[in-house]
Amino acid sequence: MISATPSVFDTSFSRSGTGIDAFVDRHAPDVRTTYYGAGKVALRDGLAGVVDAGGNVIVPSYLSPAVVEPLYELGLESRFYAIDESLAPDFADLEDRIDDDTVAIMSVNYFGFPQPGLERLAALTDEYDCYHIDDNAHSPLSVHDGTLLGTHGDLGITTLRKLLPVPDGALLYCADEELRERFVPSSLAGRSDRVAATDCRFVVTSLAESVLETSQSLHQSVEALLDDGPDDSWSVDPVGRYEAAKTPMSKISGIVVDAADLVGIRTARRENFRAWRRVLDSRDDLSPFYEALPAGISPYEFPVRASEPAAFLAELEDCGVVGAHTWPILRESVRESDAYETAIRYSQEVVGLPVHQGIDPSSIEAVGDRLRR
Ligand SMILES: Cc1ncc(COP(=O)(O)O)c(C=O)c1O
Repeated sequence: MISATPSVFDTSFSRSGTGIDAFVDRHAPDVRTTYYGAGKVALRDGLAGVVDAGGNVIVPSYLSPAVVEPLYELGLESRFYAIDESLAPDFADLEDRIDDDTVAIMSVNYFGFPQPGLERLAALTDEYDCYHIDDNAHSPLSVHDGTLLGTHGDLGITTLRKLLPVPDGALLYCADEELRERFVPSSLAGRSDRVAATDCRFVVTSLAESVLETSQSLHQSVEALLDDGPDDSWSVDPVGRYEAAKTPMSKISGIVVDAADLVGIRTARRENFRAWRRVLDSRDDLSPFYEALPAGISPYEFPVRASEPAAFLAELEDCGVVGAHTWPILRESVRESDAYETAIRYSQEVVGLPVHQGIDPSSIEAVGDRLRR
């Protein structure tokens, strides 16, 4: 079976455990780094000292719905810009949305790759004298042309939960000097040094998942049971998601983050990315998003555009791939606007396949054999 996320019980830990601090220090020594439970809260704190209510932030339309909640909490409007087929901003659309009250423009490094157009976007933030937020939630370990993704802008975030088997965890990067000076961490900044109920719940859930992963039929039975349970529409409720994220990074996340073998993890993710590319190469109904995998990139997933996404997902599930999904569920105001045709189409046809370090490339090859049959 190929799960969505790695397990805390797998072997992606090293005795020396260089950890994320040393990694960030090596690649972005001048950036101030602060731990948080979630990237959304990091974003709020990073902006809080330098913005006034009534401003606006220009963000991509192709975005998870809860990411703009911290902006609303700060009294800022979020204005969504259209994207083009390469995931670059549609610059004409973006520039149209800038006005005197624009305090920041956000880029997003999708799937662990730099967002196309980053240089042009930086030129725009210079021209309009606003901040550049470099959202790198998807991949804390990606380095491109010598720059750690997330540190291109004045302010950046990255989400450790998307890389490691942890219940929470994120980093705020403050690169701009003024931002650094005016940054006042809230009570939600930092790492917890106490064991809390979340830590225990996480270990128990991870154990249960490890057991379920040993058998596809067991996994399907439990999934069916849970599907009949209470409606979990909360999980797509942006406000609920944001409020639930308001905790410092948990103790268990800190332990895992310090012990993780980051170089080994990036290597494993790259191998799995290449394995998916090989096994899906002959399929006419699928177009991989990225042909090349430049050095330094730590992919979050292997994204493909599927002409029949629901059928492809069903095929994958039959082959034991439970962690594949379309992404993201868009915010209602984006979903319902003609201005965002590409983002809406991509949210329906882009399927992300898991490449995490808990997967052995041979199991991707085995899925390939079954898909070909
Ligand atoms: C592009 C992007 N930015 C930001 C976030 C928010 O990260 P976190 O869940 O750590 O708050 C997400 C989470 O899904 C995301 O996909």
